[in-house]
Order: sequence, then C-alpha cells, then structure tokens
Amino acid sequence: MMIDLNTLTQRHETYKKQALNLDMTRGQPSDENFDLSNPMMTIVDKGDAITSSGVALRNYGGGIYGLAEARELCASILRVRLEETLVGNNASMEIMSHVFALGLLRGLKDSPQPWGKSAAKIIVTVPGYDRHFHMLDTLGYELVTVGIDESGPNLDEVERLAGSDPDIKGIYFVPTYSNPTGDTISDENVKRLASLKAAAPDFTIFADDAYAVHHLTDQPSVPLNILEACKAAENPDRAYLFGSTSKVTLAGAGLGFMGTSEANLAYMGKLFNALTIGPNKIEQYRHVKFLTQYEGGVSGLMRHHAQILKPKFGAVQRVLSEELGDKDLATWADPKGGYFVNLDTKHPVADRVVALAKEIGVALTPAGATYPFGKDPNNSNIRIAPTRPPLAEVEDAMRVLALCIELASAEHLNA
Ligand SMILES: Cc1ncc(COP(=O)(O)O)c(C=O)c1O
Repeated sequence: MMIDLNTLTQRHETYKKQALNLDMTRGQPSDENFDLSNPMMTIVDKGDAITSSGVALRNYGGGIYGLAEARELCASILRVRLEETLVGNNASMEIMSHVFALGLLRGLKDSPQPWGKSAAKIIVTVPGYDRHFHMLDTLGYELVTVGIDESGPNLDEVERLAGSDPDIKGIYFVPTYSNPTGDTISDENVKRLASLKAAAPDFTIFADDAYAVHHLTDQPSVPLNILEACKAAENPDRAYLFGSTSKVTLAGAGLGFMGTSEANLAYMGKLFNALTIGPNKIEQYRHVKFLTQYEGGVSGLMRHHAQILKPKFGAVQRVLSEELGDKDLATWADPKGGYFVNLDTKHPVADRVVALAKEIGVALTPAGATYPFGKDPNNSNIRIAPTRPPLAEVEDAMRVLALCIELASAEHLNA
C-alpha cells in the first residue's frame, strides 16, 4: 500500500538533512576489484624485454594483430580462434569506433561502397549503452532502435527493418548480460541474426561482448557462438565481436580486442596498419603474464570479482524488495551477471526520481541515458550501477531510490 504524499515528502526532507553524498552513476569496478590485479603493476620488468617467444617488447614490430600470447588469451574470452583475434590497446570502445569509422570511410570487406556514401543506419537495442549511441551518432550514423528482452534483441523487428532497408548496415548490441538490462541473447536469436535475409549485402552483426565472463552465479549465461553460427548459416564474414579486460583487470590499463573471420581480420588489419604501427606490447605482455599465472586463469579471477560484487547485487534486490515489493510502482531485473540492474518505474517519473535522489545527495545515472539522445519515450528507465560504491552505500542509495520512486509516483498520481 502506498503512503500518502505528505508523509513521503516529510521522509524526503528528513533524508535531506543527512547530507548524503553517494554516487551510483558509474558502471566501474571498485578499488577492491582493482586490488585483485595489483600484481600486474610490477609483473613486467627489464627481464621481459624479449618475451619467451622471442618478441622484442620495447621496439616497434610484432605486427598489427597483437602478441600471439595475448591473442590466444583474448580469443578464449570471445570463444574464437587466435587467428580470428586482434588485440589492441586499452578499451574496446577504441577498436569499435575504428571499425565503425572505417565502415563509413572505406566500407567493410564486402561493401559495394563506403557506408558514408549513403545515409548509413545501425540498429541499436534500447534500453542500451549511452556510449554506443553517442559514438555512432558522433560518427554520423542514424540510429534505429529495437527493444531487448530476456531473449536479446527483438528479432521480429530486426528482421523487418534490416530485411527492407538497404541503408541499415548492421546491428550493435551486447550479447551477454546486456548493459543495462542484464539480458543474454537466446540461441534461437543468434541463429536468426546469423541467417537473416538483409537488404544490405554487407549487413553486419557488431556484438559488444563486454561482459562475456562477468558471471554472478554458478550457472553462467553463455550464448551460442556468434561466429560459428554465422559460418553455419553461410554468412561467415557477417560478425564482429568485441571485448576488453576493462572489468577483468584494470579499466584504465586493460586490453581491448576483436574477434571476426580471418578474411575480415585480414581486411581490417590492413586498414588498421595504415593508422598505427601496432599496439602497446608491454601492456599485452603484462596481461599475459598475470592472467596465465593467476590460479584458474581468467575464470579464477572472475570468480574472485564475483565474490566482491555478489553482495552488492544482493543488496539491491533485498532493499528494493523490502521497500517496493508490494507497492506495484516499479519492476527491476535480477541479473545473473554483468554490471547493472535495470529498473522501470510504473509511472512516467524516472527524471523526477533522479532529481529527488539528487536533492538527498544520491547521484543516479541521468534518466534517459539508456536511450539515444537521452530521450526515454516512457520516462521510466533507471540504470542502477552497484559495482563501484562500498556495500553499505549501495544499501543506503537503494533505500533513497525506493523512497524517491514512491514520492515521485505519489506526486504523479496526485497531480
Ligand atoms: C556494453 C559496454 N561496452 C563497452 C564498455 C566499455 O568498455 P571499454 O572499457 O573496453 O571501452 C562498457 C562499459 O561500461 C559497456 O558497458
């Protein structure tokens, strides 16, 4: 049952006096998570100037695709082969933006002409990741939105749109534990994407697998292998996968990487080679040494990350259930991995909730950030990012969020 507006307003005023200062905006690892990778800071020294496989780390050379050992490591995260993998520098966003920019300027391998010669459009899923939207828009792509649910992108919509519009050059989405909904694409939807009859001959799947190994339970969500599905559907060059170690090792000094067919990689490698002599090999070797020496490798490290993250995700569920469970004012996801909890208010009050929380001193991701141009048509979506703050702060912030949802909803119903 909902409490009356006056009581809720008073509770909000009382909270304000506490002068909280909590930041729930950032989908970043906590320092405790980073501490797991501290050995990386010093793991490489002058004794590694020549790697065990004979590559001189300090000089140019070694090629555009990255160190073989790093390619092997990152290939295993994307579940592709070394020969299908390019490892770059820090941040997958950089590699993704190169591929999208080169698509416009030069086209992809089988493009009849550079995508920039016509009004190139990319399908994106909503709610989604603001940096995807911002990058595509800044480069000059038109964004076409489709919904996402527990099976992944709405494939009926994707098939309808991509099947009829040759300007739609691809779909950009997060296959595993999507930001922010936590959804993983179903096997059926992977097959449909791989075999989709697109109007554009060079329609491409851009799968940002940022959370491929970021499981929070003992039953990992692992989607059907997208590259393999494309090969099986006789569209072997249709997909590009991306990933990074930003939330595996160090967000400020990780590795970004890409997995695609060998033919695509040869094409892109040539273009990348015109832009740079090669990636930072010392950073790559640092990762190879650290992650191969870590007990259990990448999976072992991710289990330790999960031990730190699980109580925070648990606190979100517990507090929201306690405060809002019986009030029919919001629904929220209980993700099995990734970095976010997606919440939708029943009434169109997301912007008011965020503003009310700010008055108390709790910063939430801006309302609308999960939609292109910051415009959530329903004004209902709120992305909760529980990973960075300490556990106690997550709990406090969730109580504030719940109160602000109640208050904003009461205001709306009383208006
Ligand atoms: C879906 C998704 N892709 C990419 C990134 C950023 O990755 P990177 O640090 O590798 O650029 C994030 C970070 O929040 C993300 O959620």
